[in-house]
Amino acid sequence: MNRFVSQCLLLFICSAAGFFVPGCSKKETPVVFAVGGAPAEIDFWQTTVKTFEERSGIAVEVLRQPTDTDQRRQNLVTALRASRPTPDLFLMDVAWIAQFAASGWLEPLAPFLENSPLSRNDFFEPVIRTAATYNGTLLALPVYVDAGLLYYRKDLLETYGFSNPPELWDELVAMAHTIIDRESRKGNELTGFVWQGAQYEGLVCTFLEFAGSNGGGLVLSGSSPIVATERNRQALAFMHDVVHREKISPVNTGIDMKEEEVRRAFQRGSAIFERNWPYAYTLHEAEDSPVKGKTGIAALPRFREGTSVSTLGGWHIGLSRFSRHKTRAFSLIVRLLSFEVQKASALEVGWNPGRIDVYRDPTIMEHLPHLLTLRDVFAHAVSRPNVPWYSYLSNVLQRRLNAALTGSMPVDEALNKCEEELRVIVEQYSMRK
Ligand code: GLC
Repeated sequence: MNRFVSQCLLLFICSAAGFFVPGCSKKETPVVFAVGGAPAEIDFWQTTVKTFEERSGIAVEVLRQPTDTDQRRQNLVTALRASRPTPDLFLMDVAWIAQFAASGWLEPLAPFLENSPLSRNDFFEPVIRTAATYNGTLLALPVYVDAGLLYYRKDLLETYGFSNPPELWDELVAMAHTIIDRESRKGNELTGFVWQGAQYEGLVCTFLEFAGSNGGGLVLSGSSPIVATERNRQALAFMHDVVHREKISPVNTGIDMKEEEVRRAFQRGSAIFERNWPYAYTLHEAEDSPVKGKTGIAALPRFREGTSVSTLGGWHIGLSRFSRHKTRAFSLIVRLLSFEVQKASALEVGWNPGRIDVYRDPTIMEHLPHLLTLRDVFAHAVSRPNVPWYSYLSNVLQRRLNAALTGSMPVDEALNKCEEELRVIVEQYSMRK
């Protein structure tokens, strides 16, 4: 009998017998875990999952999703609406947990926690209370917390005599002009400020920061949302002007600029300032990065009348209600939220872990001192409205803000239209309660 035939025979006997024989186990259906993000983030999940498989003997399939949060949400919504049993586990943007919770797609986690080494006290209490719990039921656990930050080229600021990063938006514009001008005389073409302006969720986040740092923002009170205010108008006009009038931001800001486009521009060394989430830091500091050792981090600037504001972001893990392998899937959650993996995620991909004990770790403090420096940024971050129909609001904001940013609609008109359309949504959904 040749080797192939004998192996097939052995496999047949094992699977017919239906019991475990070392070296010829019956293949279990893998736990499917959906993740997205930057390539380095997906690599991190893949290595982490591999170690888990080796240690636990539980098979896992990593389902790769796009980088853009809206596309990731859409992808999952399609599977969950159809009650599909996979993915068993997925990461959820803090902006869409309420929708998933209200739709009944998430398995309550408290019963699983009871017999596990994890406890809700391991995580930031306000995050658990405001984002992970819906109607009193714990439905998600935080993997990492995000807040918008300002990255800047320490070396360039220093060369041109700026001892500190800008505190005001006007200062950022002035510094950018000086540096761009002087560097261009040396034949070095730079752009001033890269940030997320494409028509997607990231634009809502950046708008809330510009507006918030001018004392504005989005107010949802009763059924009358308020967005068309003078402070928001000034903030949106500023967003338009940095691209089209000051020309310190790339002309394609409103078309192409999402997290990774922004990060790559800064990392190539072609931008002076960047607005991004914390994950960009470790990538900028990587061995082969042209900006290694040259990247500074600060709180985002503000307008004269306002204070610095960051949008609160972050990703949680959820277990599908339709999963057929909930216990096995939960053991993967336990591993992913262990101290060891959370610490590795901070060091390797620069996330701000959801677990509190990681922040007390000496290695973390040594390698990522900005996590402590920026504690205030996290303490004052603004949340997006935590309502199940947030994606409808976001859709309106994305379209109208982007129209103003690209100049296809005047700022006033865009904000007025925004307010009208938001009102229709808020009225419709608050009546359904
Ligand atoms: C980051 C944030 C998330 C936000 C998204 C916008 O992934 O963590 O909360 O919605 O960026 O692009």
